[in-house]
Amino acid sequence: MCGIVGLIARDDVVNKILEGLERLEYRGYDSAGIATIHEGKLDRRRSEGKLRALKEVCFHAPLQGTIGIGHTRWATHGPAIEANAHPHANHRIALVHNGIIENFSILKKDLETRYTFESQTDTEVIVYLIEDELAKDQNPLKALQAAVKKLKGTYAIAVLFKESPDTLYAVRQGSPLVLGISEKASYLGSDAISLAPWVKQLCYLEDGDLAELTLGHVTLYNREDQKVQRPFVANPMATENISKGPYRHYMLKEIFEQSTVLSQGLQHILEKEAHHLHAPQGDIDFKAIESLSIIACGTSYYAAMVAKYWFEKYAHIPVDVDIASEFRYRHPVFTKNHACFFISQSGETLDTLAALELSKKHALTLGIVNVPQSSIARAAHHVVFTHAGPEIGVASTKAFTCQLLTLLTLALEAARQRKYLSAREEESMIQSLRSLPGLVHQVLINNKMEAVAQTILKAPHVIFLGRGTQYPIALEGALKLKEISYIPSQAYASGELKHGPIALIDEHVAIFILAPFDAWFEKSAGNIQEIHARKGHMTVFTDEEGAEHLQTMLPGVFHLGKNLILLPKVDPLLHPFLYVLPLQLLSYYTGMLKGTDVDQPRNLAKSVTVE
Ligand code: F6R
Repeated sequence: MCGIVGLIARDDVVNKILEGLERLEYRGYDSAGIATIHEGKLDRRRSEGKLRALKEVCFHAPLQGTIGIGHTRWATHGPAIEANAHPHANHRIALVHNGIIENFSILKKDLETRYTFESQTDTEVIVYLIEDELAKDQNPLKALQAAVKKLKGTYAIAVLFKESPDTLYAVRQGSPLVLGISEKASYLGSDAISLAPWVKQLCYLEDGDLAELTLGHVTLYNREDQKVQRPFVANPMATENISKGPYRHYMLKEIFEQSTVLSQGLQHILEKEAHHLHAPQGDIDFKAIESLSIIACGTSYYAAMVAKYWFEKYAHIPVDVDIASEFRYRHPVFTKNHACFFISQSGETLDTLAALELSKKHALTLGIVNVPQSSIARAAHHVVFTHAGPEIGVASTKAFTCQLLTLLTLALEAARQRKYLSAREEESMIQSLRSLPGLVHQVLINNKMEAVAQTILKAPHVIFLGRGTQYPIALEGALKLKEISYIPSQAYASGELKHGPIALIDEHVAIFILAPFDAWFEKSAGNIQEIHARKGHMTVFTDEEGAEHLQTMLPGVFHLGKNLILLPKVDPLLHPFLYVLPLQLLSYYTGMLKGTDVDQPRNLAKSVTVE
């Protein structure tokens, strides 16, 4: 949430900062700003709205400088208006911030007696805390060190001081910051993507670190103000091609990339002709694990819910799944030989990271993350990468199916180690997994979801239903639809329908039912009858056998490609992977038809680094 870029170079930095912010816009996009020092003068431009509005402002009122900071905001304190956009500044300090200052109102009460605040943000207190320290004749470094000691909360901050026109300062506590140095410039950014084309080596700041950056050089201090060294490591994004390619949106590109990324993911776990899955984290002793908690937020939490079915069914390990923001404040009980898995695409989600920090003393922890070198990847005892590649669309799509693949292989590794998986079963699962990328491709190219999306544009409300592993997929479908189309959407385990939600059903509500012809099909067919009896407008996702049953059960009600969507008949192991695809496309096309910004839906941000 919120993206930060900072640069010191020999040449003008404004366009480069704007370019870096463009790569960070997924972190927040309700306002943006930039500040530089030029000929001894601190100057800034800010704008409400997306980055293109700031570019327009900079075009009409150009800004210059060889040192500068930029910010793209996701509002926490105060609405998305120019006055609340970063950088916040006075006559000699300009700063940008990502995070939340929890004690800002206490600090502000005191500072207000001496300074006039211009914004409603928590960030502006930092400007005046530093100013207070400068007034005590402190130099910028000492003033910043003293000021941040008064802050509670999370922050990544980049600061310019008019009196230090060659030095850029940055501090990290809880929110990510990376830096890179080349001969031509020194760079600061919120993540590896922001610096990807500029530097091949990155230094990740640790919590409490302060960086003093000059051209081609950095000095780091820890929270005790002692000089420290941190390693420079390869920038994992340096070789990634981050573009939309032939697609109109990142979201569509990422949906269609799923067959490729799953195929690449399979290469990590299935050697050619192998008879065994090669688990990504084979050094975990699953025999010693007596209970497992899987913790995450949002879409990653739904991946955890699917995994619960797999770990319990195949490995016989009792599993609790938990929303990270609940887990961390709920006094969880850790039993003997407990393991905690943390799933996160970004690896930066604050609640998930806090839940991990809480668990580390009591349980074996495993981070299941997409972004290498992310905070969760570095904090967990063990880490597994989901290999989805950079996901830029704010709504998670390919990251989800890659999380599923990783979780499935972990569950099967656990089953094998615990001797619940016979060689024959494993062989048959391997066969099924080998067919997955081809099936994903087939479902995507044959999809009919644009036409289905037309049918729900006027629906006041959409309901998704599923049983077994299709229940979390229904939840994911509802989340995706509300994120992208803003249509109120909910999901229920189909068996819960008659315990309340059935009251919602009338001829206006749209209902999507995930009902592959599996062990639960007869039960789902019962739900379909009940909905039909109440004139509910249904679309059912099933396979050929399921379709035949439904057409016999309710003649004339279901029409192929319209309200009966056929998916391939596959091993139930693969159902979650395949049934989520049309739901991703449904939300994409509904958003398109409604004219929403599908890659950057309103109010959202990709990396939730605040509570
Ligand atoms: C939904 C979505 C979010 C994230 C959630 C967790 O499309 O993207 O619900 O899944 O914010 O993010 P990560 O996985 O980065 O921890």
